[in-house]
Amino acid sequence: MNVAVILAAGKGLRAGGELPKQFVSVQGKMIIEYSLTTFQNHPAIDEVAIVVSPEYMSLIQQLKDKSRYSKLKQILQGGAERYQSSWAAIQHYAQYSDCQLLIHDAARPLISSEVISSVLDTLKHNNCAIVAIPATDTVLYSEDEQHIASVPPRKKMFYAQTPQAFRLETIKKAFEIGLKDEQFNPTDDSSVVLRYLPDEKIAIVLGEAVNRKITFKEDLNWLNSQ
Ligand code: CTP
Ligand code: MG
Repeated sequence: MNVAVILAAGKGLRAGGELPKQFVSVQGKMIIEYSLTTFQNHPAIDEVAIVVSPEYMSLIQQLKDKSRYSKLKQILQGGAERYQSSWAAIQHYAQYSDCQLLIHDAARPLISSEVISSVLDTLKHNNCAIVAIPATDTVLYSEDEQHIASVPPRKKMFYAQTPQAFRLETIKKAFEIGLKDEQFNPTDDSSVVLRYLPDEKIAIVLGEAVNRKITFKEDLNWLNSQ
């Protein structure tokens, strides 16, 4: 079973505004509905789960009641940190055997069907796959956040996107180990596997520049102009 997990429990503080960015309407459709539609229409996606905070459960329930999203089967409650929202989905699907989770940011509306297909192809031979694009700017590493400590070669640098996809047992095991670590505070899911299951390979799947994350108000303006 291939499950798309759309993470939508964030507050969108950097974008500001009254509503968290994933629920803002752009060209007549909420941002979260863009990726929901793409997953719904992908023939290899069996089910979609949306992870949301309690205040917005009823809003997503209304989407679920619309017959156009027949694959939207689960509305799960997220947590204060992104990893807690991922963990809610991992725990829910732990009851199924032979399950693959494609964990996606609701804030990335323009994920394409082609990239989803590449992720699923990659998962046929790998337990973990991450969508990423080659870095276009030189990336600087700083220890103190004020001075440059090193400049990693740009050719080896990528910008991480989502979906980040995993065989369920793999991501579950990584989180179970990580959650016991007092320092656990990952910003994405692949980094949990990298850190806590260092022998697992995480394959890079080539993403697209349009699969950009809506983070600031300017990104909303960009989406409006697409
Ligand atoms: N997310 C989530 N649960 C959280 C935090 C984030 O499900 N506790 C989701 C967001 O809804 C978003 C994705 O993870 O779709 C990427 O996170 P980010 O861009 O950081 O969104 P926010 O946390 O909402 O924004 P900000 O950090 O500016 O408050
Ligand atoms: Mg955030």
